[in-house]
Amino acid sequence: MVKVYTIASGKGGTGKTTVSVNLGTMLAQLGKETFLMDADIGMANVGLLLGLQDAPVTLHEILAGKGKINDAIYECPAGLKVIPAGISLQGFQQADPEKLRDVMNEIVKRCDFLLIDAPAGISKDGIVPLAVADEVILVVNPELSSIVDALKTRILTELVGGHVLGSIINRVGQDKTDVMIKKMEKVLGVKVIGIIPEDPNVRRAASSRTPIVIKFPTSPASKAIRRIASDLTGVAYKDEGDVQKKEGFIERFTKALFVKKSEI
Ligand SMILES: Nc1ncnc2c1ncn2[C@@H]1O[C@H](COP(=O)(O)OP(=O)(O)O)[C@@H](O)[C@H]1O
Ligand SMILES: [Mg+2]
Repeated sequence: MVKVYTIASGKGGTGKTTVSVNLGTMLAQLGKETFLMDADIGMANVGLLLGLQDAPVTLHEILAGKGKINDAIYECPAGLKVIPAGISLQGFQQADPEKLRDVMNEIVKRCDFLLIDAPAGISKDGIVPLAVADEVILVVNPELSSIVDALKTRILTELVGGHVLGSIINRVGQDKTDVMIKKMEKVLGVKVIGIIPEDPNVRRAASSRTPIVIKFPTSPASKAIRRIASDLTGVAYKDEGDVQKKEGFIERFTKALFVKKSEI
């Protein structure tokens, strides 16, 4: 069954686009046909993170009734299909967020997962993605203003008939994680479905316009995102480090066998 997840927050800058791009890439890497749509039509960033800033047709044109959906779909690493939004203010003004529903209905016919990167705030373009998804995932930072704004977004989601699956706590430092999870679940009233640490490789990957899960697959943020994707798909989680350790062992074992054989 197709799943549509909207990645939302409340406060800006919590890591929605980072999570959307990398969770999408990871789902595609796990063999799921995955689409990512940049519904942050005012402050579009998905294209920037994936090197699609010059895309000739974007969600802006589609929402303005000026283009065909197929022309706005771009293939990215791991086979993730991306519908970026444009960066021009004029394009934003002409785009009608109500049309998102039609675009979504067209895309869900072709995929396993559709991720929608939502804008911050509670304007109309922010509310539509909360209402149209099967489930909303809140990206929260471990600080009071972010948590309060996420709570507002949870309440707003329910007011417009949507449903919040849970939260991802992003940019976690050395805090006592168990206590933090309990507090977050109590305040937000939803489960914490993932924790992503503060990781300098996030910024490095962004400046090379490549998802961190591709550029630095063994870095802490990549491992955390792989774990969340595994939980969403039901595909067992494999720690890259463990895989390498196991391969190292098997290689050594095979070599040892080979030496013995040749000695006979
Ligand atoms: N886990 C992380 N570790 C370090 N930096 C991060 C992390 N997640 C996001 N960032 C940085 O935070 C900033 C905002 O992230 P972004 O995904 O654009 O947020 P949003 O889409 O919610 O506005 C970016 O500069 C990004 O590189
Ligand atoms: Mg963003």
